[in-house]
Amino acid sequence: MIESTLLLIKPNAVKNKNIGEIISIIEKDGFLIKNIRYFRFTEDLINIFYKDHIGKSFFDNLNKFMLSDVTIALHLERDKAIERLRQINGDTDPETRETGTIRSLFADTITANAVHSSDSPQNAKRELEIIFGYR
Ligand code: CMP
Repeated sequence: MIESTLLLIKPNAVKNKNIGEIISIIEKDGFLIKNIRYFRFTEDLINIFYKDHIGKSFFDNLNKFMLSDVTIALHLERDKAIERLRQINGDTDPETRETGTIRSLFADTITANAVHSSDSPQNAKRELEIIFGYR
């Protein structure tokens, strides 16, 4: 089934000039880019987007990191897009991260982990609405 999902290319990957390589990996895997946005997170937007992580031990670090530079958001489409993008991104935790994944190639730390992707159809819809203003 064709699905939509959101990919964020995070500040460390932008600073490290990995945008092109990451987009190349996802396009070669069959994802279609439906929309793209270059923007800077604000604290208000972080509190909305990452609301489920407010109060967690890593939230302050995540906040500081996401404010540190620009982010690229991509609205992507593909068969089973949500599951597939999470596979090719790899695990957040470097201990359990699979080799060859985008995070294994471009993450600097557990926080500066290069990319984010939606984890369910509900969150994909919610995150695409927040970042692209869809209604
Ligand atoms: P992301 O997929 O964007 O979702 C939450 C983010 O919090 C995660 O990627 C990381 O950037 C950051 N983070 C830092 N530490 C952790 C942790 N221990 N578990 C999950 N996410 C973490």
